[in-house]
Amino acid sequence: MARLRARVHGGDIYSAARELKRDPTEILDFSASINPLGPSPQVWKAITASRHLLNHYPDPNCWDLRQALATFWRIDPEQIVVGNGSTELIEALPRALGIRRLLVVQPTFSEYAAAMVRAGGQATALFADRSDQYAIPIDRLCHVMEAGRHDGRSIDGVVLCHPNSPTGQACSAEDVARLAKATRRRGIWLVIDEAFADYCPERSVLPHAASWPHVIVLRSMTKFYALPGLRVGFAVATHTAIRRLQRQLPPWSVSAMGQVAALAAVSDTVHAQKSLRFMARERERLRTLLAALPGCVVMPTYANYFLVELPRGWHARDITEELRRRGLLIRDCSSVPGTNLRSIRLAVRTVQDNDRIVRSISHLLLQGAS
Ligand SMILES: Cc1ncc(COP(=O)(O)O)c(C=O)c1O
Repeated sequence: MARLRARVHGGDIYSAARELKRDPTEILDFSASINPLGPSPQVWKAITASRHLLNHYPDPNCWDLRQALATFWRIDPEQIVVGNGSTELIEALPRALGIRRLLVVQPTFSEYAAAMVRAGGQATALFADRSDQYAIPIDRLCHVMEAGRHDGRSIDGVVLCHPNSPTGQACSAEDVARLAKATRRRGIWLVIDEAFADYCPERSVLPHAASWPHVIVLRSMTKFYALPGLRVGFAVATHTAIRRLQRQLPPWSVSAMGQVAALAAVSDTVHAQKSLRFMARERERLRTLLAALPGCVVMPTYANYFLVELPRGWHARDITEELRRRGLLIRDCSSVPGTNLRSIRLAVRTVQDNDRIVRSISHLLLQGAS
């Protein structure tokens, strides 16, 4: 059985700034995949207009935000729970649902396994194949869920990151529905992390999750809505599952400004459309530039980042370190179980930033080759 360990994350501009004796805002961060257009202009207005809320506790029920999310997704607000980032919900899930043995589809975000272990349970892995460009192994997964067993032992939970990080892969909404059906037969919990699904809405199953027993969909306001500093995420599931999850959360875990900003963000469909159009264009441009780097392999993606394999002979750790010295952060994926040592993840940022990272990588590869 493959045992999984906790890993480091991207987005730590503070440590890099301290090391380089620079201001954190001077660090160019490709290691966290945040909408390069930034938060909606409505978010700035809403925060400014809500300054008076700072001397009150936040709404412990996140009432207004849940109403807005429910209207947006056409579901019952009682089927939504908001957390201090989706990370808080990931942490609470094993205890809330009584999961003891979780199957994680790897390579993926490390916190599912880490949270499971912290809750006193075990995490086991089902690996996507590199030879298949890490496509989600949907048939194998269905088979495992129907059997209710993996590696000779029973499982009571499965987590699927969809689209997956760091690989960028996603399957169709119909395939996810197949998993939801398989889960029903065995009563295994299926957690679908849709932190990046805003970039491929046709592959999301969010509204359906409200009526699927044993399925929880997680969403984040961090990535597409560009609010990583405010920490807001939410889960959608049946009434019973949401109540169980809610009971595991500490009171007031979502700040007043987080609630105000998230509400303004989901209400601004103009900024959302602009962000999607930008990403569709810029992602293709960056893909072409990266694919033109000699020896680099660029994986397909449904999200706002690319998993890239460096040319043979290179180690992801070395190039990550070299770029860091230049104030450029990328995600070294060499330690993510299931990827190879040449794997890095790059967020799609602005045109200017993307040109800069490609130039810098190209320069380092040429230097190394000479
Ligand atoms: C796949 C995935 N899910 C969830 C999270 C947690 O996001 P947050 O807690 O900011 O909502 C992350 C953060 O990097 C992630 O990559």
